[in-house]
Amino acid sequence: MRWRLLIPLLLPLLSGCPESITTIDDAGALRSDFDWQVRANIPLPVEPIDNAMSEAKFQLGRHLFYDPRLSSNETISCSSCHHQDKAFADGRVAPRGATGELHPRNSQALVNIAYNPTLTWGNPSLRTIEQQIVIPLFGETPIEHGISDANQELVLNRILSEPRYAPLFDAAFPGQPISYDTIVKGLASFIRGMTSFSSNFDRYEQGDGNALSESAKNGMALFFSEELECFHCHGGYNFTDSVQDRTMFLVDRPFHNTGLYNIDGLGAYPEPNTGVHEITSRAQDMGRFRAPSLRNIAVTAPYMHDGSVATLEDAIRNYAAGGRNLTAGPNAGDGRMNPYKDGFISGFSITDDEINDLIAFLQSLTDDEFLNSERFADPWATP
Ligand code: HEC
Ligand code: HEC
Repeated sequence: MRWRLLIPLLLPLLSGCPESITTIDDAGALRSDFDWQVRANIPLPVEPIDNAMSEAKFQLGRHLFYDPRLSSNETISCSSCHHQDKAFADGRVAPRGATGELHPRNSQALVNIAYNPTLTWGNPSLRTIEQQIVIPLFGETPIEHGISDANQELVLNRILSEPRYAPLFDAAFPGQPISYDTIVKGLASFIRGMTSFSSNFDRYEQGDGNALSESAKNGMALFFSEELECFHCHGGYNFTDSVQDRTMFLVDRPFHNTGLYNIDGLGAYPEPNTGVHEITSRAQDMGRFRAPSLRNIAVTAPYMHDGSVATLEDAIRNYAAGGRNLTAGPNAGDGRMNPYKDGFISGFSITDDEINDLIAFLQSLTDDEFLNSERFADPWATP
């Protein structure tokens, strides 16, 4: 096996941390000994070949995630827009960056991101967390952390002069300098390690029949029914059809138009939030977004790529109508007639009791351990 011969050469490069053990299997895939805290029967995520997981990188990333030093004017950290008690969404329609600029999209929850084959609401070209993190740090449209050519040295020096960082970087990246490369790799490792599989639904799956109420069980049957069709796009262990893990050889990267808008009668979504179309400019990609994981969905309102749906009930009523008909305002138009709408968004009839059951099921995907765990909490709070 060629890989076996390479292992002794690659190991010191790949493992990063002396205490963490990284191996490469016969298929050429990386295996660190990181404790993913993933329950039985859930496959482990893929690890990038140039940034194997380690507990030291995770802990470094956790410090960086909560640190406003890592912004132009020390006002913004990742946690400004990603709050643990909201599954790392932020409860706002859209957030503001370091200079007050409004982001056009809703802050995403950060739940089981390690399983996402694409990152952000609707971008097929963003495929690694490392690529994605550069955007909030250095992006100019919109400005989030506000780091630029003009201030990047100043910001890096702020990190260098905080005494708690030296041992953290040393443990995570021994022998390597503190740089934006190791900062991004540390942050990515924290995000990658944020797994959530301890909801009441998970307890039910593992055999505890009492973990779900009768109402939630009814809601589960509705969710997985051919009438409501939710599971086609939000199925599987991460409640999305956009998923990758170590057991998969072929990875699909699906995006769907759910009929939220139709401002010109020809299917248009409001600029700049045209989904995959924003990247490809192809008409058929208009309004196509990644189906988000529905894990912890009850705590991440408001919903959708632009935060334009206030509650789970509203989201369900839009699906029942086969899309959203906006009768007034600048974005008025009948989304139900959107020509690019996915075939599974065809509408269904549902009673008020059934809506409550479906919401009870969605609430059963809330993982209180994830929302309260010290492991994901602000490390600067304790001296
Ligand atoms: C100003 C608010 C803001 C800040 C600061 C911010 N984010 Fe985000 N984050 C967002 C928004 C909005 C999105 C959706 C972006 C899009 O669709 O273009 C997002 C998306 C993401 C995603 C993709 C999630 C997914 O499901 O694909 C990750 C990962 C992420 N952010 C991590 C971070 C990290 C790490 C930092 C700190 C370096 C950070 N964010 C800082 C608002 C913010
Ligand atoms: C054709 C695929 C598809 C089907 C079927 C579908 N969804 Fe979705 N769902 C999506 C996509 C794509 C989005 C994101 C749309 C956007 O932001 O414009 C979404 C968003 C959501 C959101 C908001 C997520 C967030 O993080 O803001 C909820 C809640 C939701 N769907 C629930 C459901 C329920 C309940 C059903 C069944 C009644 C269902 N979905 C059926 C694809 C689908």
